[in-house]
Amino acid sequence: MAVFGTVFMPQMALATFVNDEWTDTEFVSADSIQLHPGAHVLHYSSTCFEGLKAFKHEDGNINIFRMDKNIERFAQSSRLLNLPEIDKAQVEKMIIDIVAKYASEVPEPPGSMYIRPTHIGTEASIGKAAAPSASSMLYVLLSPVGDYFAGGLKPLRLLLDETGMRCAPHMGMVKSGGNYASALPPILKARSEVQADQILFCPNGDVQETGAANFLLIDGDEIITKGLDSSFLHGVTRATILQIAEDHGMKVSERDITVEELLERSAKPNTEAALSGTAAVLTPVGTFIHNDKEYQVGNGEAGPVTMKLRQALNDIQWGKAEDTHNWLVKV
Ligand code: COI
Repeated sequence: MAVFGTVFMPQMALATFVNDEWTDTEFVSADSIQLHPGAHVLHYSSTCFEGLKAFKHEDGNINIFRMDKNIERFAQSSRLLNLPEIDKAQVEKMIIDIVAKYASEVPEPPGSMYIRPTHIGTEASIGKAAAPSASSMLYVLLSPVGDYFAGGLKPLRLLLDETGMRCAPHMGMVKSGGNYASALPPILKARSEVQADQILFCPNGDVQETGAANFLLIDGDEIITKGLDSSFLHGVTRATILQIAEDHGMKVSERDITVEELLERSAKPNTEAALSGTAAVLTPVGTFIHNDKEYQVGNGEAGPVTMKLRQALNDIQWGKAEDTHNWLVKV
């Protein structure tokens, strides 16, 4: 399978917001868009996106996972960036129609079709550094994918960073390109200096999230993760895993957790840690690196609870378990 996110379907669904209204959806070539070099997005980062997936079931049907939640978050990100209000019904139809168009290209499990709705401010106005773009473009790209982490399910090494931040504290819940750009320099540094796979951002000891996924700590039958606030992304997979954990009788604790508590708990043999996200699914963490010391999480392996929750999520997505929460939409 090609590197995650490098292969695209030839067409995408596209709509533009001009003269205060959305145009009808068009299906256009996915390899180019026309943008003025002075477009708002290129100067003032008026851009947000989503990540969701479509899955092929054994009966050949294609199902999209938690589309409503992703569209809700897309609407919220657009609002928080002062982009034009999206038309949720139109976006839903754009997603379903473009997935239907490429239904035969959705990979068999464990692969899936990654869906990337994107919303950008297009007004050519470099004077609008402190004003919103009056026009925008919204498109839905498709990319058939396998595993996000190149090493597959090998437990990850995470650097605990107490000084840096992923993004500005009030921007964490916005799924915006700028947040990923701002997290990049420390991530690259951590990769080259301590061979970390990712950074777990913990400003002033507050355990938040990594550059591209949420963080979950599993201590026996309790799953602990930071409670929702504006500082980090409100992951759809995070919410899904918490629901599945509850369905399995686990205790779910959404609360602040400090680096000190994290290191103390992870020294116990049955502790596990994992990253959650559309791309990451649920990926085990084996090692923390903190102040030049390495700490094994539990026994350092992919833990049984992590693997059980991951399997339970995959089973629903792949149609092998009952979709009791109605998370799937058949295309
Ligand atoms: C996702 O998990 O869908 C994301 O958006 C993370 C990404 C940067 C690949």
